[in-house]
Amino acid sequence: MKSIKKAVFPVAGMGTRFLPATKANPKEMLPVVDKPLIQYAAEEAVAAGVDTLIFVTGRNKRSIEDHFDTAYEMERELEAKGKKEMLEVLRGILPKHVNCVFIRQSEALGLGHAVLCAKPVVNGDPFAVILADDLINFSAKPCLSQMVDVFNYQHCSILGTQTVDKKHVSSYGIVDGTEVKPGLMEVSGIVEKPDIKDAPSTTAVVGRYILMPQIFEKLETTKRGAGGEIQLTDAIAQLLQEQRVLSYTFEGKRFDCGSKLGYLKAQVEFALEHEEVGSKFREYLEELTAVEKKKVVNMRKKT
Ligand code: G1P
Repeated sequence: MKSIKKAVFPVAGMGTRFLPATKANPKEMLPVVDKPLIQYAAEEAVAAGVDTLIFVTGRNKRSIEDHFDTAYEMERELEAKGKKEMLEVLRGILPKHVNCVFIRQSEALGLGHAVLCAKPVVNGDPFAVILADDLINFSAKPCLSQMVDVFNYQHCSILGTQTVDKKHVSSYGIVDGTEVKPGLMEVSGIVEKPDIKDAPSTTAVVGRYILMPQIFEKLETTKRGAGGEIQLTDAIAQLLQEQRVLSYTFEGKRFDCGSKLGYLKAQVEFALEHEEVGSKFREYLEELTAVEKKKVVNMRKKT
């Protein structure tokens, strides 16, 4: 069985939840501290052994291509000014052995359709899918690396999951199944964005998948589903009729950077861990918290 060398990044979505910030800029280019979301996703893939990054793009996404391309003018300027550290940051965005492929999804027909657009490049191999707006922090190992470890001994599709609050099931693909061992479940069913009353569990797929190439045959015949879109979840539901699909509860904290609140939480937590600004930011937050607490006490006194 081949190892995972290719990762697909569906980045054609409009990002309307962040308007006006995303009017001319892709949501995947929104920064968390000093790196755009898409770079965190690319770094996670590379750390897991991926060497081909396949971006499925759409209109207004040119800056993603530019971000992973060489910036000659900027490099020359930094070189001339002797700004070595900055130059390293610029040149180190991706290691040299990693290739980027950009495919244009001409119609926004949904996540399943975006993944199908990558078929000619994936070319019959098992592959990963990463949704950049699900940003996952980790202590020991990045999420996709954990999933690749599971794939290397299970040799089947693996869905990255986490337990969500019951009231949020209608925002996710929700899986049903039986536990094989702690954290690993054999999936018997999956449904996209179910009503609370129809949800088979509270185990939700987050934006990390390892998929067997047979998923493409299923995607080719998948009809429009939830939200009128071609859903990856529906194709997975078809796939598991024929082959084993596992769900894996990863270790790490996931931030839903597709929502404003999730994005703000990611900013705060990544900033607290940041080498350059972490300790100063912590001091600032402590001061701010003290000020806010005082305000609450004063308000209580007045009432
Ligand atoms: C997509 C998938 C959904 C998954 C979610 C994770 O939905 O369709 O199954 O649970 O990503 O973030 P979206 O958030 O794009 O609506």
